[in-house]
Amino acid sequence: MRSLVAGNWKMNGSLAMAAGLVADIKARHQKAVLPVDLLLCPPFPYLAAVGSQLKGAGIALGGQDCHTAGSGAHTGDVSAAMLVDLGCCYVILGHSERRTDHSESSVLVASKAKAAIGAGLVAIICVGETEAQRNAGDQNKIVEKQIVESVPADATAENAVIAYEPVWAIGTGKTPTVGDVEAMHRHIRGLLKQRVSGGAAMRILYGGSVKPTNAAELMAVPEVNGALVGGASLKAEDFWGIAEGAAKSAG
Ligand code: PGA
Repeated sequence: MRSLVAGNWKMNGSLAMAAGLVADIKARHQKAVLPVDLLLCPPFPYLAAVGSQLKGAGIALGGQDCHTAGSGAHTGDVSAAMLVDLGCCYVILGHSERRTDHSESSVLVASKAKAAIGAGLVAIICVGETEAQRNAGDQNKIVEKQIVESVPADATAENAVIAYEPVWAIGTGKTPTVGDVEAMHRHIRGLLKQRVSGGAAMRILYGGSVKPTNAAELMAVPEVNGALVGGASLKAEDFWGIAEGAAKSAG
């Protein structure tokens, strides 16, 4: 399975910063094409500019959210079709920051994923336990419930990706042990095989404090098929270092 290394810029940057970052990543990619799929997910206002810079570069563009509806009276929202219009192939859905900041439920995430898939996007569906849930030993149960409720019935290996992001590892510099990552990814793989058509081939990304220094080790873990990268995706050198780490395990 080809790894996917996705940069989630969150609500960071400026038009000028985006232009510099993309130019730097593109230059590195032109010098040495790595055997991994690369994806950049800038904030909505920068999608058009980043998209035009990425044209023909072999690096995909994605959004960080979409609405369940195709259009309508939803002030401030963006539809999956609009993302497609701008050249997006992917959309991140159900990130823990949206689940917290906007009280998004797994049921809502599933209907967003259904809309995204219907519009032709690949939905990156995020799941992950909090620190308290892990300390209580509930991580498998929590992630299972999120998968059951957030992954729509029409998800396949072609139109959906799972991102396992332990909430306590996001932006904290803390990561689970390699053993804990493997155990969770095997758990998720088992659930996908049971529930999703082609679930054996659906990519499962790890996210949460992925850096150039830990990427190769994390990407080599069985059932880890790429990374969702936040903070480190804002520096071309770090994002590229992570992509190189993922490429090492591509074999
Ligand atoms: P981080 O964020 O890499 O900054 O920990 C990951 C994410 O939230 O996708």
